[in-house]
This record gives sequence, structure tokens and C-alpha cells, in this order.
Amino acid sequence: MPAFLIDTDPARLDLDLVHRFLSEQSNWARGIPRATLARAIAHSLCFGGYLEGTQIAFARVVSDCATFAYLADVFVLPEHRGRGYARRLLASVMDHSELQGLRRFSLATSDAHGLYAGFGFAAPRRPQSLMERYEPDIYQK
Ligand SMILES: CC(C)(COP(=O)(O)OP(=O)(O)OC[C@H]1O[C@@H](n2cnc3c(N)ncnc32)[C@H](O)[C@@H]1OP(=O)(O)O)[C@@H](O)C(=O)NCCC(=O)NCCS
Repeated sequence: MPAFLIDTDPARLDLDLVHRFLSEQSNWARGIPRATLARAIAHSLCFGGYLEGTQIAFARVVSDCATFAYLADVFVLPEHRGRGYARRLLASVMDHSELQGLRRFSLATSDAHGLYAGFGFAAPRRPQSLMERYEPDIYQK
């Protein structure tokens, strides 16, 4: 099996591939403009997963690198799923030196709770204390 390598070098990311997946196949960022994604990536800590130099996985962390982080845009390309790559990507995120000692690490997921539960994520203890401004269809307008 080819080695699965993970790194956070933004220059190595395949923006075309990440944009294609998120804008065409994801159920949360469908239609996201390429420039919006490029701007999000520029202001995030991004993790790329590579097989023989080709990107097949992605995760993006928005953080102050001290107290809080938000995990977003996690995916493994469909043909590479079920081989533990998301788990390994998540392990890299959780082990990253800039993401230690955080008071809160948040994410939103519609159906991958089991994946994140393995890394200590759980439903908010006090959901009534959380608020958000949410425009899920913003890229469709
Ligand atoms: C979710 C996703 C990243 C998992 O990638 P993967 O490489 O196939 O996952 P892994 O092989 O590392 O295994 C993930 C583990 O989480 C579990 N899991 C929980 N929810 C899951 C889900 N919705 N999809 C896939 N696995 C899920 C799996 O059962 C597996 O556990 P197991 O090894 O005990 O069986 C991938 O299916 C994907 O890209 N889905 C589309 C995008 C998406 O939904 N991203 C999550 C946004 S929050």
C-alpha cells in the first residue's frame, strides 16, 4: 500500500481538487467560490493528505492557536474511503503542536459523529449557551 503522508504546507495543497470536492460534492460548501475558498485556506491551518504525492484528503482548522479552534471541510476522496485515512488525518490535527491546550475545539457534522467521537468530541454540554449566525445557503445566492 502506498504511504499516506500528511502535511500542513499550504503551498502543497491542490486548490483545484479541494475546490472541486467542496463546491461540487460536499453537502456543506456546495457552490463555494474558488476565491472564497482560497481566502479561507490562507487564513487557516490546513492539513493535506497525500498518496504518492497526489492529494486525496483535506482538513482545515481555524484557530487562535492558544484557546480555541474550529475544524472544518474534512474530506477523503470517495475512492479512498474506508482505509483509515480520515482517522489518521484527524490524529495529525489533534497532535499538531499549535493546537495543544485549547479550551474549546468545535466542529459541525451531519453524520460523521462516530469519527470525531474517537478523538474526544461530543455534543455540546450546554447547547443553550451556544449561539450562531448561520447562512447555509450563502453560496447558492
Ligand atoms: C467522513 C469521511 C472523512 C471518512 O473518511 P474515511 O477515510 O473513509 O474514514 P476512516 O476510514 O478513517 O474511518 C472513519 C471511522 O469513522 C466512522 N464514521 C463515522 N461516521 C462516518 C461517516 N459519516 N463516514 C465515514 N465514516 C464514518 C467509520 O465507521 C470509521 O470507524 P471504524 O474504523 O471504527 O469503522 C469520508 O467519508 C468523507 O470524506 N465523507 C464526505 C465528507 C464528509 O462528510 N466529511 C465530514 C464533514 S463533518
